[in-house]
Amino acid sequence: MAHILVIDDNQGNRDTYAEVLEADGHQVLTAASGEAGLAKLGAAQVDVVLCDLKLPNMDGLAAMELAHEKHGPIPWILITAHGSEEIAVAAIKQGAFNYLTKPVDIARLRATVESAARLAQANRENRRLRRELGYEEALERIVGNSPAIRQVKNMIRQVAASDATVLIEGESGTGKELVADAIHALSNRSGRPYIKLNTAAIPRDLLESELFGHERGAFTGAVQQKKGKFEIADTGTLFLDEIGEMPLDNQVKLLRVLQDGSFTRVGGNQQITVDVRLICATNRDLKQEVLAGRFRMDLYFRLNVVNIVVPPLRERREDIPLLARAFVERLNQRHRQDKALSDEALHYLRRQDWPGNIRELENTVEKLYVLSPGREIVVHRGAVAPVAEPAPRAPEPAAPAAPAEDPIRALVGLPLDEVERRLILATLAHCGGNKCKTARTLQIGLKTLYRKLAAYGVKE
Ligand SMILES: Nc1ncnc2c1ncn2[C@@H]1O[C@H](COP(=O)(O)OP(=O)(O)OP(=O)(O)O)[C@@H](O)[C@H]1O
Ligand SMILES: [Mg+2]
Repeated sequence: MAHILVIDDNQGNRDTYAEVLEADGHQVLTAASGEAGLAKLGAAQVDVVLCDLKLPNMDGLAAMELAHEKHGPIPWILITAHGSEEIAVAAIKQGAFNYLTKPVDIARLRATVESAARLAQANRENRRLRRELGYEEALERIVGNSPAIRQVKNMIRQVAASDATVLIEGESGTGKELVADAIHALSNRSGRPYIKLNTAAIPRDLLESELFGHERGAFTGAVQQKKGKFEIADTGTLFLDEIGEMPLDNQVKLLRVLQDGSFTRVGGNQQITVDVRLICATNRDLKQEVLAGRFRMDLYFRLNVVNIVVPPLRERREDIPLLARAFVERLNQRHRQDKALSDEALHYLRRQDWPGNIRELENTVEKLYVLSPGREIVVHRGAVAPVAEPAPRAPEPAAPAAPAEDPIRALVGLPLDEVERRLILATLAHCGGNKCKTARTLQIGLKTLYRKLAAYGVKE
């Protein structure tokens, strides 16, 4: 059974086709014009379209083109007058599934619809598989197993299916863009356009045109008409990054699009209607921006339909080892090597506060990776931000220590020299690379420390 849309201006034809196809068990919708047909395509599930070529106003080919543009590849069967095979062949080149000539042979009609329905079914299955694959991939790219990040992933699963506007908040480098990517990938709009615009990266006076497009001659330099991101993202998702940086006058226009789904290009007066799902991100506290008068309250409420807060890394330290290993893995693949984090490096990474969050962790791991000549990734002085006198800190959230991370147990089985090496390097890292302090902490002479470090290949 398939859902068939019959578009024909002749009622007698519509009835005949509908009767035949319904007798075969299909669900049939009918429309008397290309325009009416397109409206039904937008409103209901349609697997196959059977469409007369000659229609009042918009002909069957034009309707097909618009439909393919807006709804993707729906198998389209054109019915042409006897003797217009040339047009029919051209139509197939333009993407029609097949054509039937009048007077329509009923057996051929049934067979053609049947094979078009099979194609539609295969396409649907394909899309579902692709979506499921994309689904897994997009979520797996968000590494982490802390309760906080698991909650973020759950939110993504929940909101993806809807068309609700999502506001993603979180400090810089926490992974807001990855969250936006995943929402689109898991949504029904995956496979449709996914357009990103960083509001802060566009000069103020060009932002309106970037978002909404402009007509030719709208301003100096507008030599051609240009579509804005909202038009390009039609039927898909638009991700507006750093929304907190948007100037107030652009906020007004954005609010209007959210209210009635339409806008005009800069310098134009034609109302353009689009179907766009909006995702926004900001590392500012948007509520605070509202209170300070820099962000419109009405827009804030429109954007904040669903709110996802991505927690800073220091609030989910238990994710650090997973993240660090994931980054090492990626580097190994890129460099075709097989390095691994030493315990002291892992220990060092776990202790930092990461004000730059995961981006900073990623950069640090890469630096350590590149600077470690051997298989083991160690902490090099100068490669990492110096650790100031370790401030007395609140006890770390008691993450259940994985057996491998029990510091003593991890050492069992190693030669004493190696244990000493690790302890010395870890203490050095702990002391921010300060050798005097390291020697004092270990209660050994500075000269001894220098000698040992030289033997370990640690350079100045
Ligand atoms: N959970 C995660 N797992 C793996 N990589 C991550 C994760 N979170 C962030 N990253 C990586 O960290 C870097 C920063 O992430 P992203 O650009 O999404 O952050 P952001 O919150 O958008 O930051 P900003 O506010 O600065 O734009 C990216 O390279 C991203 O791939
Ligand atoms: Mg970002």
